[in-house]
Amino acid sequence: MTPTVTAAAPPFHTRNDLAADTRAAMIVLLNERLADAIDLGLQAKQAHWNVKGPHFKPLHDLFDATNALALEWADELAERAVQLGGVAEGLVGAVRDRSRLPAFPTSAPHARAWTEAVAAAVEFTANALRADIEDATAAGDAVTADILTSIAGAADKQLWFVEAHLEGL
Ligand SMILES: [Fe+2]
Repeated sequence: MTPTVTAAAPPFHTRNDLAADTRAAMIVLLNERLADAIDLGLQAKQAHWNVKGPHFKPLHDLFDATNALALEWADELAERAVQLGGVAEGLVGAVRDRSRLPAFPTSAPHARAWTEAVAAAVEFTANALRADIEDATAAGDAVTADILTSIAGAADKQLWFVEAHLEGL
């Protein structure tokens, strides 16, 4: 059973003086984005392993770089949740239950389909991060908003890389 992150107050004491309800809301939000980031990492690896064709090498590398970035983002998001007195929930069950990324193909007919699927995953991740910046700001947690802004910027850049590879595929 997946542990709940909807508690009214964070489970752990911290000397951080943000209001408990603000921290609780941010922990929920951060765990949602954590699930997306881990799922993005898994999806990118699926494409990294299985892509084929004349553009194999640049796409193989692009998808591996996407995986590495996603895992960096997951680490930042998870650690922020714990800083706020929460539990970072990065196990496969939590990811399965919470990730809202589009379903990813196990196999795809050609390199363009793999690249389109990775583009859709990065697109979703970037846009969800951006949407949460405003919530974190409105909740009064400028540090979480800054972390989300930083990751969203990197996700936008990675989306550009993936979209650029789609040209001519
Ligand atoms: Fe590899």
